[in-house]
Amino acid sequence: MKTNLSVNINKVATLRNARGENNPDVARFALDCERFGADGITVHPRPDERHIRRADVREIRPLLGREFNMEGYPDEVFLNLALEVLPDQVTLVPDAPGALTSSAGWDVKANLDFLRGVIGRLKERGIRVSVFIDADPEQARLAAQAGADRVELYTKPYADGYAADRKEAVAPFVAAAKAAIEAGLGLNAGHDLSLENLAYFRRSMPRLDEVSIGHALICDALYLGIEETIRQYKEQLTNE
Ligand code: PXP
Repeated sequence: MKTNLSVNINKVATLRNARGENNPDVARFALDCERFGADGITVHPRPDERHIRRADVREIRPLLGREFNMEGYPDEVFLNLALEVLPDQVTLVPDAPGALTSSAGWDVKANLDFLRGVIGRLKERGIRVSVFIDADPEQARLAAQAGADRVELYTKPYADGYAADRKEAVAPFVAAAKAAIEAGLGLNAGHDLSLENLAYFRRSMPRLDEVSIGHALICDALYLGIEETIRQYKEQLTNE
């Protein structure tokens, strides 16, 4: 089973924005992540542009050689940007515009028609669409009904429960993954995955196409450097 590592570079843009100049250079960082072995790059352009800006997305897109994943709430600004730059994958997340970070998956049932419409527009242009959901088999089945190609499981509850009882923490994710696979969907995961909890998560899952990791990975890079950090995350994803 191959699991791709997509590096979320939002934090690098946050650091750059702190001083208003171009240090660190987000585009160069993205390219270096690819050079050091990342299978893809994830960005989450938020409406207030407090980290990745729409201009970054336009700059980075043509430079990248691997998977480009754009995640966010699908308002018209986000959708138009996606339809302009044509990422390999769009991950639809339900966060409110001012949210600090994603904190729950979609209520797919309540948003079925909306999601169906959005997914149709993106897929028409050849973009793979992943829907961010909680570890709930019913949400996975509904995401398939909405036309999604994949689901991304929101892994914070797993990360929070890992130290106390990792077997119990991962169980709902295995159940949701099985439902997703039965419904014909691919499987991504993200949020609070780290060098500590990643290998066990992957080993436990019946399938895992991609993890997208930002916060812990960038924190690790402060101590290890980005090249060594990516090497270590990739190692977690290749050990059986
Ligand atoms: N997946 C989604 C949908 C997210 O919103 C985020 C955070 O931007 C991540 C994955 C990555 O989470 P973390 O930064 O905790 O690794």
